[in-house]
Amino acid sequence: MNAKRIIHNVYMLEKDGVKILATKSKYGSHYGERKIGEFREWIPSRSKLSAMFMKGYVIDIKPNWKVLYLGAASGTTVSHVADIVDEGVVYAVEYSAKPFAKFLELAKERKNIIPLLQDASKPWKYSGIVEKVDFIYQDIAQKNQIEIFENNARFFLKEDGEGVIMVKARSIDSTAEPEDVFRQVIRRLKESFKVIAYGSLEPYHKDHIYVHVRMK
Ligand SMILES: C[S@@+](CC[C@H](N)C(=O)[O-])C[C@H]1O[C@@H](n2cnc3c(N)ncnc32)[C@H](O)[C@@H]1O
Repeated sequence: MNAKRIIHNVYMLEKDGVKILATKSKYGSHYGERKIGEFREWIPSRSKLSAMFMKGYVIDIKPNWKVLYLGAASGTTVSHVADIVDEGVVYAVEYSAKPFAKFLELAKERKNIIPLLQDASKPWKYSGIVEKVDFIYQDIAQKNQIEIFENNARFFLKEDGEGVIMVKARSIDSTAEPEDVFRQVIRRLKESFKVIAYGSLEPYHKDHIYVHVRMK
């Protein structure tokens, strides 16, 4: 098996001619993903961040970064982010109790995950716990998700911090053309941030884009 390093603890494995994204991890499987030696497969159809890497867009997430993760669900993607920031911390916000229960199992075994059962649209409610962060990752599929991102950035993002927003066209406007929704979202984000890049997550996630931003 061939393993090519992408960023800290993220590798592209090549096994029998098939490419598999994976994180180097001392932990076991969390969501049914395969363990391949010291790696955990990072499945792009299950994780938009994996899909972004698979599409060739790489963000050099550093091992010591502090991350605020909005929309943790049961921790599929958080588990891989925690593998990457193994000297840092992931503050992970989720407001739905059902996925949060499974997420807590993950947080129990990982020292660098702080689980927060909170509403991401009310950042002041967790501002006593979350410190200034290097990176905000948001995957919450809400109509007002851009406003939610802006508010969290205002509270928690360092001056030179950056972030990624995963945008699902249908959650913002179910009747408009996805391209129009994306154009509007980018325009809105440019008012408060420097938009570094954006791109489609197809074929892994239909009508979704990632947007990579930095504080202005
Ligand atoms: C698409 S799922 C996230 C999947 C997850 N990021 C992953 O890749 O493993 C969206 C999650 O955002 C949560 N969510 C939506 N609005 C939220 C809010 N205002 N505050 C906190 N969580 C929210 C939902 O409950 C849901 O679990």
